[in-house]
Amino acid sequence: MTALITFDEQQGVFHLHNRKISYLLALEEGGILSHLYFGSAIDSYHGQLRYPRVDRGFSGNLPGHTDRTYSLDTLPQEYSASGDSDYRLPAAIIEHADGSRAARWIFKDYQIVDGKPELAGLPQAFVEDKTEAQTLIINLVDEVSHLELALNYTIYRDRAIITRSSKLTNLGSQAVTIKKLASLQIDFVAKDFESICLPGAHANERHLTRAKVTAGVKSFESRRGSSSHHMNPFLALVEPKTDEFSGEAYGFALVYSGNHKFELEQDQIDQTRLLIGINDYNFSWDLQPQASFTTPEVLMTYSEAGLNQMSQAFHQIIQERVVRSKFKHQARPILVNNWEATYFDFDEEKLKPIVADAKKLGIEMFVLDDGWFGHRDDDTSSLGDWSVYKKKFPQGIKHFSDYVHEQGLKFGIWVEPEMISLDSDLYRQHPDYLMQVPGRAPSPSRSQFVLDMSRPEVQANVYQQLSQVLDQGIDYIKWDMNRNISDVYSVGLPASRQGEVYHRYILGVYALLEKLTTNYPDVLFEGCSGGGGRFDAGWAYYMPQSWASDNTDALARLTIQYGTSLAYPISTMTAHVSAVPNHQTGRQTPLKTRGDVAMSGVFGYELDLTKLSQAEQATVKKQVASYKQIRSLIQYGKFYRLKGPHEGNQTAWMFVSPDQREAMLFTFQEQAFAQGALTKTHLAGLKPDLFYREEATGQVYSGAELMKLGLYDPVVHQDYTSKSYHFKVLD
Ligand code: DGJ
Repeated sequence: MTALITFDEQQGVFHLHNRKISYLLALEEGGILSHLYFGSAIDSYHGQLRYPRVDRGFSGNLPGHTDRTYSLDTLPQEYSASGDSDYRLPAAIIEHADGSRAARWIFKDYQIVDGKPELAGLPQAFVEDKTEAQTLIINLVDEVSHLELALNYTIYRDRAIITRSSKLTNLGSQAVTIKKLASLQIDFVAKDFESICLPGAHANERHLTRAKVTAGVKSFESRRGSSSHHMNPFLALVEPKTDEFSGEAYGFALVYSGNHKFELEQDQIDQTRLLIGINDYNFSWDLQPQASFTTPEVLMTYSEAGLNQMSQAFHQIIQERVVRSKFKHQARPILVNNWEATYFDFDEEKLKPIVADAKKLGIEMFVLDDGWFGHRDDDTSSLGDWSVYKKKFPQGIKHFSDYVHEQGLKFGIWVEPEMISLDSDLYRQHPDYLMQVPGRAPSPSRSQFVLDMSRPEVQANVYQQLSQVLDQGIDYIKWDMNRNISDVYSVGLPASRQGEVYHRYILGVYALLEKLTTNYPDVLFEGCSGGGGRFDAGWAYYMPQSWASDNTDALARLTIQYGTSLAYPISTMTAHVSAVPNHQTGRQTPLKTRGDVAMSGVFGYELDLTKLSQAEQATVKKQVASYKQIRSLIQYGKFYRLKGPHEGNQTAWMFVSPDQREAMLFTFQEQAFAQGALTKTHLAGLKPDLFYREEATGQVYSGAELMKLGLYDPVVHQDYTSKSYHFKVLD
């Protein structure tokens, strides 16, 4: 196997490389590890280009050294610590038994191994075959405390992807407390950067937000116990000129669903440090002698051809090597979900006609949402009691699931396993399962509370209840989480270890999911947290798809789905057609537009099918039939963003099959104008010299024409319109 990682002993330079990217790091005087380069592939590197030494006032030097030009305060490093002369934000803060918080990471040794070692208990990118990747493990030590820090770098052979994580082992004789341990540090020399992040809110997630990186510190984080609607665990650093097709883009996605923090610091000489990892907010971890702590991992990519190329690298790695379910390459069923159709007001008899209509229209799965369990008629009760509500399903869930199956549809069900209502048998039996701070009343949110998932007995209780549900003919689970975590405290841990609860919570959820997904491999899991509140690469490891947002308005969804696609593949993003006026925004959009937006993801409906007019039912039937034709192209084709909703009146995106012989283009126009200018959409990703026939009109164009001349957009006389084009190569 050709080496993907080499070490030049003479120059002390490590080089991780494939045909697309290179990453270089070097050993400096005193055993310090410096960062040299991350970018496009460098085929031959001689190792002599090093960071210049310059005397900078007020930047101290290594102990015992008199060279005033060598300072940790300016050197681009691979991993920093607190308590020495680097005044920038540290990657690690470790409190020792004597109360000191200093460490210096000195090179000890390294290993290069084929493949990618597993990170126990954490979601991660994997390899199917050891030849796919190589891993460099660099061991650093803090010589005073005997802490050993392993920096893990995996480079994939055929992808512009490097993964990074770190592991701290206490080889000393006294316990230490980890206050902060980043998964990744990357220091860039002075460069004009802009950051792109994905902030949002409930029903308004992942808006592409771009800002100049300026002097000082900026953080992008979640302190909500989950990856959150509010700041997605993704960040890109780009040049000011970078657009969808040109310019440099460095992309970073954390494979983690808990509290995260991305910190950017531009220092005194315009250098940029990026730190990514578990949020240090209310975090601490007791590390006993001989124990280790492993951080979640970061997927990082570099593109010299703009944001689309960055996103495609993320889409491919997440789709192919993070998602593990047997459904990862399978056509995902078109579903109808009863939430916006009925909310809590339903019973078996009311749902049956929706199922019957779904069958007539070609829909493939019925999903029973919130309200089927305990005695739940609204959001004030029953979370924690995962047994059927007899008033709504007198003969039980299995009976209803049999009915749905007899209609030829699959049957899915909603659960919210991490939560508890005060009005529940679970609370009456186990009040201590509810996470709360002793002596303080816990804060409700949506009238509900959080289970202490850090405790194994709570995980076991939930597993046992859920497995009883899953044994009743369930094909799909929608796993929801309708509030953020607060009142963080676990009665399962001593006072000195309460800083571990946030991380142990998500580790507990991961352990539960590992067991459920292993024991129920035929169940399709869909993630959800009040829509897209936990849309991250960690969650994708357990759940191949997630509900992108509670906002089903077609116009709002353009922004949400556009932003989501920066990091996450289309096959992970579910999207439904709902009724108008839209329940979240009150907006009226045409059924065609709602269909085209939802068809740009994993498709479904979320409305009362029985209330559709005959003409609407006919349209839905056509939409369902046409999605079946293009489903694999949408779910597994290459996705290109062409025009962004944040840029103006139009959005456009397209999907191209791996062999470039088929493509689907969707264009959307927000407002109609009288005597508006003619606009065009330029396609991408086609073969210039092939001829493509547009299926609806029979018109033929060369790939070059479609990409260079572009297609004229239709002149419209209505707001919120869309147009779809299906191209196939002319044989
Ligand atoms: C939030 C989800 O995102 C909705 O789709 C729905 O399942 C509700 N929760 C039910 O409570």
